[in-house]
Amino acid sequence: MDLFEYQARDLFESHQVPVLAGAVATTPEEAFAAASTMGGKVVVKAQVKIGGRGKAGGVKLALDAEDAREKAAAILGMDIKGHTVHKVMIAQAAPIASEYYLAILLDRANRNFLVMASVAGGMEIEEVAHTSPEKLARVGIDPNVGISLEKAQEIARAGQFPDDVVDQVADVLLKLWAAFIAEDATLMEINPLVKTEDGRIIALDGKVTLDDNAGFRHPDHEALIDHAATNPLEALAKEKDLNYVKLDGEVGIIGNGAGLVMSTLDVVAYAGEKYGVKPANFLDIGGGASAEVMANGLSIILGDTDVKSVFVNVFGGITACDAVANGIVQALAILGSSATKPIVVRLDGNNVIEGRRILNEAAHPLIEQLDTMDGAAARAAELAAK
Ligand SMILES: Nc1ncnc2c1ncn2[C@@H]1O[C@H](COP(=O)(O)OP(=O)(O)O)[C@@H](O)[C@H]1O
Ligand SMILES: [Mg+2]
Repeated sequence: MDLFEYQARDLFESHQVPVLAGAVATTPEEAFAAASTMGGKVVVKAQVKIGGRGKAGGVKLALDAEDAREKAAAILGMDIKGHTVHKVMIAQAAPIASEYYLAILLDRANRNFLVMASVAGGMEIEEVAHTSPEKLARVGIDPNVGISLEKAQEIARAGQFPDDVVDQVADVLLKLWAAFIAEDATLMEINPLVKTEDGRIIALDGKVTLDDNAGFRHPDHEALIDHAATNPLEALAKEKDLNYVKLDGEVGIIGNGAGLVMSTLDVVAYAGEKYGVKPANFLDIGGGASAEVMANGLSIILGDTDVKSVFVNVFGGITACDAVANGIVQALAILGSSATKPIVVRLDGNNVIEGRRILNEAAHPLIEQLDTMDGAAARAAELAAK
């Protein structure tokens, strides 16, 4: 899960990473009120989960509370690279002397963490990496060892931070690392980390990604979810513990096992080229395809108005095909008249003959059986195109 900047700011603050006062506002009046309590100059910042807000006109300095109201009115509702601004953050304005860059991220390829630090901040880090790579330190961090004070100072020096800020930057890095570990993050980026005119080091912009797989360890992360932006079908699937991802096609997909479902998406995409149709979703119902799980899965897919046909692709393993076939029949009985779209079923593997017999016997008008994955994908695509 990616956080909004204001959420990242709050998280940083709770881990003693130095930040300035900030408050979120959804109306110009709230922006006025927040700016009034802060006093002096503030910065009005669009809260969208995309970088480059500054360049896009989503970050504006306001001289006083009245000005903050006007700037908020201009920024709220703005479209930044396809993201509509529903909230702004009112942040105290920092007197900036220098802008730096500091980030910790999960480095999957090297099974490690990576710290990136650079004296050249503010701009996009890809640009720094391209134009002045010598100014960007990239240092791997062994998760079993972590970051010592000496290591943090070494990283700050490698990022070419001036001597007078090395200790402060190292201290911020240690706090950021502690936050990164404590929150189970996969990314914590500060850009810019600034030196103020009076020599303080402060995080002015934060980008945080939390690891959803560690969500069970962090009940407090639940409150950070942006429900307004969550797809309603995905939310429903999550409630039912289903592994579902909405895509933008017309052929609903159900399979057992993530690998099988991924290849099903491929064959349907391929078969659908001819008709101009694509897979509508990813849905892995896992090993134990009970009638209830099948009914939950089918009802979510049938509830997707984009779906025109469904392809159920099951390879019987521990859960044999007859159990899956019974699951499908019972699921359709549960769904009753709410099931209206053609369903192409391909069963193979353990107990396939009995599974196919059960479906043939049930002779449900919506179900059509095919023996091969390619054949079934082609039929499902054809039905979706009708
Ligand atoms: N609180 C602040 N005080 C002063 N300047 C700021 C403040 N927040 C951001 N800025 C300026 O605006 C620029 C862009 O803001 P930032 O938060 O980094 O947004 P983005 O990375 O999306 O463009 C920063 O590099 C900094 O120069
Ligand atoms: Mg930034």
